[in-house]
Amino acid sequence: MTTTSSRTFNLDRLVRPAVHAIPSYRPAKGAGQAPERVIRLDMNESPYPPTPHVRKALAEFAHTNRYPSFDAGEVRSALAAYSGVPVESVIAGAGLDDVLNTLFHTLFDPGDQLIISEPTFGVYRSLAGIHAAETVDVPLKPGFELDADGVLAAITDRTKLIIICTPNNPTGNELDPVAIERIVSEAPCVVAIDEAYWEFAGKTHLGLLDKYENVVILRTMSKFAGMAGMRVGYGIFPAELLAAVNKVVPAFHNVSMASAVAVKAALEDIDNLNANVAKIKADRDALAGSLREIPGVQPYESSTNFLLIELPVEAAPVVQKLAERGILVRSFPNPALGLQNAIRPSIGTTEENEIFLNALAEILAEGASA
Ligand SMILES: Cc1ncc(COP(=O)(O)O)c(C=O)c1O
Repeated sequence: MTTTSSRTFNLDRLVRPAVHAIPSYRPAKGAGQAPERVIRLDMNESPYPPTPHVRKALAEFAHTNRYPSFDAGEVRSALAAYSGVPVESVIAGAGLDDVLNTLFHTLFDPGDQLIISEPTFGVYRSLAGIHAAETVDVPLKPGFELDADGVLAAITDRTKLIIICTPNNPTGNELDPVAIERIVSEAPCVVAIDEAYWEFAGKTHLGLLDKYENVVILRTMSKFAGMAGMRVGYGIFPAELLAAVNKVVPAFHNVSMASAVAVKAALEDIDNLNANVAKIKADRDALAGSLREIPGVQPYESSTNFLLIELPVEAAPVVQKLAERGILVRSFPNPALGLQNAIRPSIGTTEENEIFLNALAEILAEGASA
């Protein structure tokens, strides 16, 4: 009898089939030779660096030899005070992606179902894949409207979670609060509302937590607060679900001491953060206005720090040409999403937006004359 096969190192056998099935994520890259300056408009980041107050707090931070507090109490208190909720209801993480992962760990066994409405944030589907859960897509209706009837009809005995992203990435619009509340009130499962961009819309669904025991509000410091590099996100949970999630959340909530210090200081500087939000919104609306003057170019209404823009041609070659000029934007080549002609730049500084606008106009004009 031979035991060679089980004695041979074979990664195909070791890695879970659910992981083999996941397509690799390839972030956008500048194509060809490296341009001298790269303008990153592909990840919905803030273009604004930390304020002097945050820099000072980080410079004075010295306790790298100690673990943070086990329950990340300080950063959770700061996030809770900012949100106006009790600290006990807040679960933090290394970015909202990490909080999503904690929620998935809490809910999903292989074969369970997640309902989402595409086009939406791609991480939901990827995480479901890692957990060997099935993603059920109830697409947004024309105008990127939430299909509440469709979502409720798609629920089965294996549906554990519905994620509603509002304002939605990548479409930029806010979903109808009446449709959202209908889903929350009728769904016999957890409904997570991803409010990563709520500060740009100025509207939150936090009030639903007072009425329903199945709703979770998910937020991040990455977008409005310009803290993407510090990786801090959080969720606000109802009591019963919280008890389960608390068993799963990683020690220290995966928030480093440096990130906690930066987030606390940033929230002490809330007026500055709000001023940045106001500037980004004004620049967004100015950019949208200028884009509308380019023939065939149609930016959708946005309640976020990015624009989804319909082009008169296929997006992929345009994205490539922008990258050759050092300007990175997102595109959505998957035909199932129906966005092959769309690009999604985040709003940069006024100067970066101008460079992007002129480059896009030139590339489209060259294409038309080619
Ligand atoms: C809708 C949405 N949710 C969550 C995230 C993840 O944010 P974080 O940087 O906190 O992981 C993003 C980031 O692009 C997003 O667009």
